[in-house]
Amino acid sequence: MEQVDDAALRNIILGRIRERGPIPFVDFMASCLYEPGLGYYTSPGRKVGAEGDFYTSINVHRVFGRLVAREICRMWEVMGCPAPFEVVEVGAGHGQLAKDVLDTIRELNGELYDILSFRLVEAEPSLAEVQRQLLGAHLPKLFWSTPADLAEGRLRFTGCLYSNELIDSFPVHLVEMTPEGLREVFVAAAGDRFAETLDLPSTPELEAYLARLGVTLDPGQRGEINLNAVRWLASVATALQRGFVLTIDYGYLAPELYGPMRRNGTLLCYWRHTVEEDPYVRVGKQDMTTHVDFTTLMAQGESLGLKKAWYGEQYRFLVAAGMLEEMMALEAAAATEEERLKIRLTLKKLVLPEGGMGDTFKVLVQAKGVENPRLLCMRDWGKLF
Ligand SMILES: C[S@@+](CC[C@H](N)C(=O)[O-])C[C@H]1O[C@@H](n2cnc3c(N)ncnc32)[C@H](O)[C@@H]1O
Repeated sequence: MEQVDDAALRNIILGRIRERGPIPFVDFMASCLYEPGLGYYTSPGRKVGAEGDFYTSINVHRVFGRLVAREICRMWEVMGCPAPFEVVEVGAGHGQLAKDVLDTIRELNGELYDILSFRLVEAEPSLAEVQRQLLGAHLPKLFWSTPADLAEGRLRFTGCLYSNELIDSFPVHLVEMTPEGLREVFVAAAGDRFAETLDLPSTPELEAYLARLGVTLDPGQRGEINLNAVRWLASVATALQRGFVLTIDYGYLAPELYGPMRRNGTLLCYWRHTVEEDPYVRVGKQDMTTHVDFTTLMAQGESLGLKKAWYGEQYRFLVAAGMLEEMMALEAAAATEEERLKIRLTLKKLVLPEGGMGDTFKVLVQAKGVENPRLLCMRDWGKLF
């Protein structure tokens, strides 16, 4: 295995463990991803794309952002074209999706573009400058907020908040079922290495979470519990006065996520486009991620006033939002058959099931204060062709 120098962060975490004793896995993962200046997302370097460690739909083709934009235009219309209307992207990274969305809204719906404002929220503060450069053409529309602004209730808006591959990057608690009952995974120090230990859960919220879902893990089975997702959704429900929450991420409904076939849960690490199962190597240098529990997002959302408007696979969302029209327009503009083939092969990645992004990725649309919205993603496929 290729080694990388992870001593600085490794030693900080080991120092904390020696001082306080074993730490819940969620705290270890939070440091690995978000330790200021040293965490995977909070240190310099490209994470997403060819030069990074993994691809997201945004890098595949700008059509992804165009289709998100088409749906946002529809949301504005079904809400009765309110002004002001704010679009918020959380986990905006380098700003590519924001750019594709804004470019498209300007092109397709000048009326909405004129009255909208666009807010970027990103955990890594230095990316604001990168976003500013990329989004230069839209500067008068742009605002920036921190994750703390959202978490601490300082945002209020009417509009649409969306995210792509955000919730999968939240630190999670790890649990394991034992003959003695549910136990939590803690990270201990063994010399200058990390070692796992099991102990009683650090918070009763973990057992309550599984009980709410009616999930009992099999003996020896592990699972992840994303309490940060629940807290985040609560802060979103407070900030959103009226409108929509659009969440795109990989994940499952709870029976599949916590089913017996997933004995080791879904925690995975990515480094230079390869999958790594060991979270204790390349500390702060590799991505760590888990699949999203969409059942909990929906159920918690309902209790927070965010009603499920639509949930389904990414391919269904994209096709109903107008993927074929976008593809035909691109093909019509292509100069050669080779270019047309390339377009088709590229776009296929966004919708292809089994290994592609089409069905692993899910889309959840939640609505607040909008009754029975007729969104593009709800369109009957029979009428699209
Ligand atoms: C997997 S990356 C996805 C980036 C981009 N959305 C994409 O699809 O290419 C997750 C991003 O979310 C950011 N992030 C994580 N937690 C966040 C939070 N609570 N608020 C805002 N951004 C967050 C990370 O810093 C990172 O840029």
